[in-house]
Amino acid sequence: MPDMQGKTVVVTGGNSGMGFETAAALATMGARVLVTARNADKGRAAIAALAQRTGGEGRCQLVVFDLADLSSVRRGAAEILDVAPRLDVLVNNAGAVLSERAETVDGLEATFATNHLGPFLLTNLLLERIRASGPSRIVNVASTAHAAARQGIPFDDLQSEHRYAGMRVYGQSKLANILFTLELARRLEGSGVTANSLHPGTVRTGYGADGDARGLLAFGIKIAGPFFLSPAKGARTSIYLASSPEVAGVSGEYFVKCRPKEPRRWAQDPDAARRLWQVSEELVGLAPQGGA
Ligand SMILES: NC(=O)c1ccc[n+]([C@@H]2O[C@H](COP(=O)([O-])OP(=O)(O)OC[C@H]3O[C@@H](n4cnc5c(N)ncnc54)[C@H](OP(=O)(O)O)[C@@H]3O)[C@@H](O)[C@H]2O)c1
Repeated sequence: MPDMQGKTVVVTGGNSGMGFETAAALATMGARVLVTARNADKGRAAIAALAQRTGGEGRCQLVVFDLADLSSVRRGAAEILDVAPRLDVLVNNAGAVLSERAETVDGLEATFATNHLGPFLLTNLLLERIRASGPSRIVNVASTAHAAARQGIPFDDLQSEHRYAGMRVYGQSKLANILFTLELARRLEGSGVTANSLHPGTVRTGYGADGDARGLLAFGIKIAGPFFLSPAKGARTSIYLASSPEVAGVSGEYFVKCRPKEPRRWAQDPDAARRLWQVSEELVGLAPQGGA
């Protein structure tokens, strides 16, 4: 088991599913874990359960913010910077799938905002601290669902105003996770910070629960559920990328079952990755960084 004593880790969506298991494993290795959740009650319950699981009262700490709300992300990032003098690992784990189109308070399509724009903004706001703590790691939980987004990122309809299908938009958002990782790794070359993405497997979690997934999607999840991986097994690749000495210095890769794997061709397109970065900066209101 890698030793994570003295390291500080952020796990988004650490209150449930794979995020919870990732937080538990890293805390057990000795890390201080900042668990982010959008719901304070769920977050507090998770912190209590983590303390019980890991025997480390106070090792996990809650930060509440909503990735689908850009000002909430800014508040959350500020709180993290306030309480964490160093940031060794950021696991962008939180994500959602929505059967029906919804808009966030910022007027953005909710799946793209939650799964890509929120994590994009959070990462950028934490990046200076992550760089200063190097060698450090950024781990982005993507999905094999990116395979379905064979047309690539729909730059002419990023908010899915013309057509919306839950799994298609979800697949595009997971493609965005991989392209974001690619461009992030390129920008971080030589900085001592690595960035990798992953597919966790098909995992039995709260995914698509609470009425987020409806109709065929909800039915499919229910029927196939018993054959899915447990959250603990699903979290293995996230934990591996966050902690294993085997991947120290490895960057810009996509992992499945703790091994690098080539994602689909449209997830390896450096021009799309650069363009996505630029439009994302505009959408979240970050000043262009230059040096692209
Ligand atoms: N399950 C699978 O088969 C599978 C396959 C491939 C990839 N993935 C990816 O794995 C990651 C973890 O998902 P999971 O399967 O562990 O599902 P989960 O148990 O539903 O966990 C998702 C987490 O994201 C949080 N979240 C959702 N929307 C949020 C928002 N707007 N702001 C902040 N947090 C938000 C959820 O919070 P609440 O508890 O408040 O809802 C929850 O903590 C996701 O990125 C997903 O795309 C999952």
